Amino acid sequence: MHNIDKAIELIKNHEIVGIPTETVYGLAGSIYSDIAINKIFTTKERPFFDPLIVHINSTNMAKELCIGWNEICDTLSQNFWPGPLTIVMKKNKNVSDLITSGLDSVGLRIPNHPITLELIEKSQTPLAAPSANKFKCVSPTSRQHVIDEFGDAVFVLDGGECEIGIESTVVSVIENRVEIYRPGMITKEMIDEALSEFDIQSVYQSSPVAPGQLEHHYMPKIPIILLWEQEITVIDNKKFDISNPYIWSLIEEPSHIARNLYAKFRIAQDENFSCIIIKLKKEMKENTNFKGIINRLSKAKSAQFGLTN
Ligand code: TXA
Ligand code: MG
Repeated sequence: MHNIDKAIELIKNHEIVGIPTETVYGLAGSIYSDIAINKIFTTKERPFFDPLIVHINSTNMAKELCIGWNEICDTLSQNFWPGPLTIVMKKNKNVSDLITSGLDSVGLRIPNHPITLELIEKSQTPLAAPSANKFKCVSPTSRQHVIDEFGDAVFVLDGGECEIGIESTVVSVIENRVEIYRPGMITKEMIDEALSEFDIQSVYQSSPVAPGQLEHHYMPKIPIILLWEQEITVIDNKKFDISNPYIWSLIEEPSHIARNLYAKFRIAQDENFSCIIIKLKKEMKENTNFKGIINRLSKAKSAQFGLTN
C-alpha cells in the first residue's frame, strides 16, 4: 500500500497522521471525528483551551465551515492561498466546539503542499491539525522531527523539509476588520498591499485564546539567550551554563533564517551544547520581514530560566 493510501485509511478510521505543510509538519485528524480530535490533543499533551487550525483544499470548502465570508476573504485567499496564512472566521455548525475550544470562530488554511492537498482531496474531509510537537515545544520541519517527538505512535507522511519553516500568519476577519493574531512570513505589509483596494489596514491584536498562558512556546530543551546589538544583556552564569554555547548570528535573509530556525534549535540541543546564543541586529526590530522570526524567538527564549532580555 502506498503511504498516501495508508494515510487516507487512517484518517477514515478516526486515527491521526503526521502531515507535511510548507510551514511546519502538522498532526492531522478528520474534523468530523471527535475521536481523532481528542487523540490530537492527548498525543500533543495540548490543553483543550488552545484551538486547532482546519486545513482545507479549496475556498468552497472554507465557505462550508464558516459564516461571513466576504470580499476581503476572497482577496486574502486569492493572494495567499495555498500558503502560510490562516484566516480566522466565525464558525458554523459543521465545526465542533472541540476543535475551536468553545470559541465561535475557526482558523482556516489551504496549505501549499501537494501531498497534504491530495490527502484532503482523497479522504474527503477537512483536516484539523496543530503543529506536530508536544505542547510548548519546538515545531517540526521534517518527517524525522515528528518521529523524534512521537516515535511509533504516529504514522508520518514524508514531504521533505518545510520550505517556510515557521508557522502561518494568523489573521481574523470580521466584516471589514482584519486583525493579526500571530505574525509570520506573510507580513502586515503584504496583507495591507493586497487589501489596498478596500482602503483598510490590518492591525496587530493579541489573540483571544488563553491570554497569558501561551507566552512561552517553541522552546528547545536548552536555554536560548537573545543578544541584541547595542544592548546590554546580563547573563547570570550561576543560572546558565554558558561554557559551551551554540552561537548563531542572524545575518541571512529572513526566509533563510525562518527555514532553518527550528532545525538549528534541535541541532543545538541534540549535540549537547549548553545553551543557544542568538545575535540580532538592531534594525531587525523595525523590519516587518523579521517580525514572525522575532515573535518565535521571544517566546522561545529563556524566560523559564529567569532571563528577561
Ligand atoms: O503553519 C501553521 O499554522 C501550522 C501548520 C501545521 O498548518 N499549524 C500550527 O498550528 O501552527 P498550532 O495549533 O500549533 O497553532 C495554531 C494557532 C494557535 O496559537 C491557536 O491559538 C491559533 O492558531 N488559533 C486557532 N484557532 C483560532 C481561533 N479560532 N481564534 C484565534 N486563534 C486561533
Ligand atoms: Mg504549535
